[in-house]
Amino acid sequence: MVSVEFENVNKQYDDGFQAVKGLSLDIKDKEFLVLLGPSGCGKSTTLRMLAGLEDVTEGDIRIDGMKVNHLPAGARGLGMVFQSYALYPHMSIRDNLSFGLRMMKGTEKLDANEISNRVEEIAQLLELDGHLDKKPKELSGGQRQRVALGRALVRRPKVLLMDEPLSNLDAELRHQMRNEIRRLHDELGTTTIYVTHDQIEAMTLADRIAILDKGELQQHCPPLDAYHNPANEFVRSFLCRHIDDLVDTANSLFKQPHQMEGQE
Ligand SMILES: Nc1ncnc2c1ncn2[C@@H]1O[C@H](COP(=O)(O)OP(=O)(O)OP(=O)(O)O)[C@@H](O)[C@H]1O
Ligand SMILES: [Mg+2]
Repeated sequence: MVSVEFENVNKQYDDGFQAVKGLSLDIKDKEFLVLLGPSGCGKSTTLRMLAGLEDVTEGDIRIDGMKVNHLPAGARGLGMVFQSYALYPHMSIRDNLSFGLRMMKGTEKLDANEISNRVEEIAQLLELDGHLDKKPKELSGGQRQRVALGRALVRRPKVLLMDEPLSNLDAELRHQMRNEIRRLHDELGTTTIYVTHDQIEAMTLADRIAILDKGELQQHCPPLDAYHNPANEFVRSFLCRHIDDLVDTANSLFKQPHQMEGQE
């Protein structure tokens, strides 16, 4: 069981800016939660507080019921994937994948066999098994992003955190990787929190979405519920109108030329 809770969490940066205001949110065991909202609304700040990369100004964050506000990042059992995947350029894919495992100390330390088995297993899952002896520069963008994902998953994190992991990829790869990420989640069942400002990404990936605006939670529910019953004007405009516009655009593309105005 791995659940995550934010209770009345505030984040004020040193310059006085209040980036997150009174956030209360629960993420259930095995859930795929998407944090959605426009640029600057506080998505990364929220994720970074959970990861232990930013201090919490007020309120509590709990993992599995245990308050983690003051627990160092490395002790929280989380896996992280960011937009810039920063692989080690001089290491092979195999070494990139095993790096975190080789660094484990004390009771967590793994023997070489276990490390090699885990790397093989994750490489297969992500279809990287033919590439283990290559260097990152020999892979495509999508393959590199899969290595970044593998590097987080190989440690078997309690919770997987992703911050706009696909925004460096082209549309086709984004689409492929999105499906891949959801498939992996369904296979592994890792509780996942995924940050994006992309409404379609949120709608297609999430069990539930949490929509933020200016540091405040606007709505938290399954994506179709938000689409059909937006909680307020912000959600109506940011989510519903945006999706309706995309659907209109797509429909107009499928109109036959003879149906279009001025053509015959
Ligand atoms: N170190 C900091 N000091 C002061 N303000 C900050 C700091 N980091 C972020 N902010 C501000 O906090 C707000 C939220 O930032 P955050 O990075 O969480 O936004 P975001 O929702 O992730 O946006 P994006 O989609 O652009 O990544 C922004 O207005 C940002 O300028
Ligand atoms: Mg961000």
